[in-house]
Amino acid sequence: MLELRNIDVSFRSEKQESIFRAKRIQVLHGISLEVPEGLCLGMLGESGSGKSTTGRVLCGLLKPDKGQVLLNGKDVYHTKEGRKALREYISIVFQDYTTSANPRFQVKDIIAEGLQMYRRRTGKRFDISPEVNSLLEQVGLDKSFLTRYPHELSGGQLQRVCIARAIGCHTPMIVLDEAISSLDAHTQVQIMDLLKELKVRYGLTYIFITHDLTAITYLCDRVLFLYQGQVVEECCVSEIAEVKNEYAQKLLSAIIDFEEGT
Ligand SMILES: Nc1ncnc2c1ncn2[C@@H]1O[C@H](COP(=O)(O)OP(=O)(O)OP(=O)(O)O)[C@@H](O)[C@H]1O
Ligand SMILES: [Mg+2]
Repeated sequence: MLELRNIDVSFRSEKQESIFRAKRIQVLHGISLEVPEGLCLGMLGESGSGKSTTGRVLCGLLKPDKGQVLLNGKDVYHTKEGRKALREYISIVFQDYTTSANPRFQVKDIIAEGLQMYRRRTGKRFDISPEVNSLLEQVGLDKSFLTRYPHELSGGQLQRVCIARAIGCHTPMIVLDEAISSLDAHTQVQIMDLLKELKVRYGLTYIFITHDLTAITYLCDRVLFLYQGQVVEECCVSEIAEVKNEYAQKLLSAIIDFEEGT
């Protein structure tokens, strides 16, 4: 079980507060949330609302100024081991798959990265290459892709490779930060179907960060609304039409108007 309690995050601003101190801008204000195991938790909010920053705190990539990140009740940022435990618990798939895959690596090497991490972490001995083949097949790509480079793949194919790498890490939880947002609608549905299938096969938990309400309703069980660095509403996806918070209602109607207009 993963939990955030009263998380504050601020970043250094260009401006000086005094000659000795740079001004800081607070972007997360007391974020608290629980990630229920085995579910897909959606995070919805406008650009700049703090979704990716929350995702980075959750993954152990950014230490908050204040608050606790609890993994099975233990505060992970408190100790080096805790942070390591968190990185072993969660992997992440970013929106920008073009930069998250090394352009000099072939597909087989990109997928192998996740498996190597898993092997180092657990000390298990296994041959990487058949595992790479199996992961490639599981994300719907055939063996001809093994020796291709990222620039030789379509966006959807490369994102499948990044998902295979994340699955290869064998972490129980995966954060998907706008992981399908730059793909066309048809490919988005294909990738979401793949994510659903892998979730059941491996008993995974997802945190799905997006602007896209349709994707949330297709994939997620629960949804959190973020506004200016705060969680303003949380509900089951089946109750999404009944949200009470004013901002969440506005966000929903803006998204629905936009989707109807397109
Ligand atoms: N490293 C950083 N240094 C300074 N400010 C940052 C940094 N990272 C994020 N921010 C600021 O924090 C705020 C929240 O950013 P964040 O990336 O979490 O938003 P987001 O909800 O993911 O937006 P988007 O939907 O556009 O991806 C923004 O105002 C952003 O400019
Ligand atoms: Mg973001």
